Amino acid sequence: MKGVILAGGSGSRLQPATLVVSKQLLPVSDKPMIYYPLSVLMLAGIRDILIISTPDHLPLFRRLLGDGSRLGLRIDYAAQAEPRGLADAFLVGADHIGDDSVALVLGDNIFHGYSFSELLETAVADVQGCVLFGYPVTDPERYGVGEVDAAGRLLSIEEKPSRPRSNRAITGLYFYDNDVVDIARSLAPSPRGELEITDVNLAYLARGQATLVDLGRGFVWLDAGTPEALLAAGQYVRTIEERQGVRIACIEEIALRKGFIDADTCHRLGAEIANSSYGQYVMAIAKELVQ
Ligand code: DAU
Repeated sequence: MKGVILAGGSGSRLQPATLVVSKQLLPVSDKPMIYYPLSVLMLAGIRDILIISTPDHLPLFRRLLGDGSRLGLRIDYAAQAEPRGLADAFLVGADHIGDDSVALVLGDNIFHGYSFSELLETAVADVQGCVLFGYPVTDPERYGVGEVDAAGRLLSIEEKPSRPRSNRAITGLYFYDNDVVDIARSLAPSPRGELEITDVNLAYLARGQATLVDLGRGFVWLDAGTPEALLAAGQYVRTIEERQGVRIACIEEIALRKGFIDADTCHRLGAEIANSSYGQYVMAIAKELVQ
């Protein structure tokens, strides 16, 4: 399975912070925002990843993550000149996806929860149609919203409905079989001029091939698209990290635990930024896991 991180857009709700910096490179607590969605793909065992951003910002992502080999990954980059919608990721990324299945994650979505890795590995194992993730929120009108029947079967999906049929937001993490490329190609732009991800999901729903997995209570899903949400996400990460002494979305640690890199490589990556507590943590994890 291939991975795609969509990290473009203008970040207008975060201006002036995003006037010269990509939203997805702003720090959430101690690390760039893109570490969080990248860690989701890594936890799913996906190592072949395309990062899509604006032509202006792409060089910065490349400077940060390179070709991914330091983390045992393969990272490619592609430009999206205009924000033509989330489903445009499958047109921009068509070559990268090839004839494989694909996971798309939005660059400003943060996921954290117990057994997330297992949940992702299950989702990746057998994607027929699409797998979506639902999360209860108090403000569903801001999101794609899924409605399910008593047996948990998905009945409808609506994009930002003014009168939501449920409180289940569809999160910015999507797994698709290879048909997604053709489906995206066949879409007409929505009234706001975008290729909507909800229209892709509706096409799968019409085929009876859309599954909604409930993330439910106890799980954390945040987006970091406004100053308030960005601060709240940073505070959440900091609180958990301080209390438990673990790091959320430490990509070097995940690479090591997944067997993408060895302990020596992990230690070296930490040593490069040894002046920071993040770097110290990476070195400590490398030492701990070598024994
Ligand atoms: O966060 C989950 C929600 O994401 C879903 O519940 C909605 O169904 C889905 O449409 C989307 O809603 P948003 O209002 O959050 O989408 P937005 O246009 O803000 O785009 C999400 C991110 O993707 C944003 O950080 C910028 C990036 N983006 C967006 C567009 C439209 C791109 O990189 N390129 C684009 O063309």
